[in-house]
Amino acid sequence: MHALIFGRVGQVGRELRRRPWSAETRLTVVDREEADLSRAGAADRAVRDAAPDLVINATAYTAVDKAEEEEDLARAVNADGPAEMARACAGLGIPLFHVSTDYVFDGSRSGAYAETDPVAPLGAYGRTKEDGERRVRAVLAHHVILRTAWVYAAHGHNFVRTMLRVGAGRDHLRVVDDQHGCPTWAGAIAEALQGLAERYAETGALPWGTYHFAGRGRTTWHGFACAIFDQAAATWGRTPEVAAIPSSEYPLPAARPANSVLDCALFDRTFGLPRRDWRDDLRGVVGALLEQEETAR
Ligand SMILES: NC(=O)c1ccc[n+]([C@@H]2O[C@H](COP(=O)([O-])OP(=O)(O)OC[C@H]3O[C@@H](n4cnc5c(N)ncnc54)[C@H](OP(=O)(O)O)[C@@H]3O)[C@@H](O)[C@H]2O)c1
Repeated sequence: MHALIFGRVGQVGRELRRRPWSAETRLTVVDREEADLSRAGAADRAVRDAAPDLVINATAYTAVDKAEEEEDLARAVNADGPAEMARACAGLGIPLFHVSTDYVFDGSRSGAYAETDPVAPLGAYGRTKEDGERRVRAVLAHHVILRTAWVYAAHGHNFVRTMLRVGAGRDHLRVVDDQHGCPTWAGAIAEALQGLAERYAETGALPWGTYHFAGRGRTTWHGFACAIFDQAAATWGRTPEVAAIPSSEYPLPAARPANSVLDCALFDRTFGLPRRDWRDDLRGVVGALLEQEETAR
């Protein structure tokens, strides 16, 4: 199987490249230099040049706050690019795996969000991602849209790295505790995408559609921060005090959903692929980051 991956250096893209792919799998990975999704025609050209058996889109304009000022650019990357990929895939008769976000929901639901719940993004990032989902569905039946949430890794821009950087130098922090979600390791998303790709390579088909995939369990940003510092305490010999604050005390340009917990039962039932508790994957990533910190000293 020959898979074309869009996104070399992002959190999910990097983890996809690290996966132990079988000898029968050939990967072609393109980054922004080879296919700048803000330029019309770039995605189409990349798919047609590679002529793969499957396309995985691990790119996105993910700067949630900046997207409020750059919605056109965010839409080009999050909607026009994926739509072009999907049209090119339809032309070649191949599937597209596309990653999307919990921020397509407005957060007003009290329980976990299922795939069938109505979308109502609060900000520009969510709007453009939702647009991307809709346009992929419109032109390509053979798609898997994997909505995920609160992505982190030992590299890239994410909450875990920010907390470890800030917590190393401060005794007091304030972190919001009225937004609920599911922290998800980028490596777990890559593992799921690989599992789907292998199943497709074996059987030539998949139950196409939109699925939720996130770390098991749920927490708040405050709970997430405390879990990070609990583990760092043994290395640091101290724990910063983390005050729980409402979002209103930490205003940001883009509104976030108060609840974006994803119900992943459909993914579990349909594919039976691994999906671990968010705390289990977090331990590995925090451990790796603390070790990097030690060796850098
Ligand atoms: N991060 C989260 O918390 C989160 C939460 C829910 C869902 N998701 C979804 O998960 C997926 C992966 O996110 P991630 O966290 O891995 O993202 P990320 O680390 O921000 O990486 C984004 C990737 O997109 C590429 N990209 C951005 N603009 C581009 C352009 N104009 N042309 C080509 N490539 C471009 C980046 O390349 P450069 O580095 O060269 O710009 C990078 O490879 C996305 O679909 C995202 O919406 C993320």
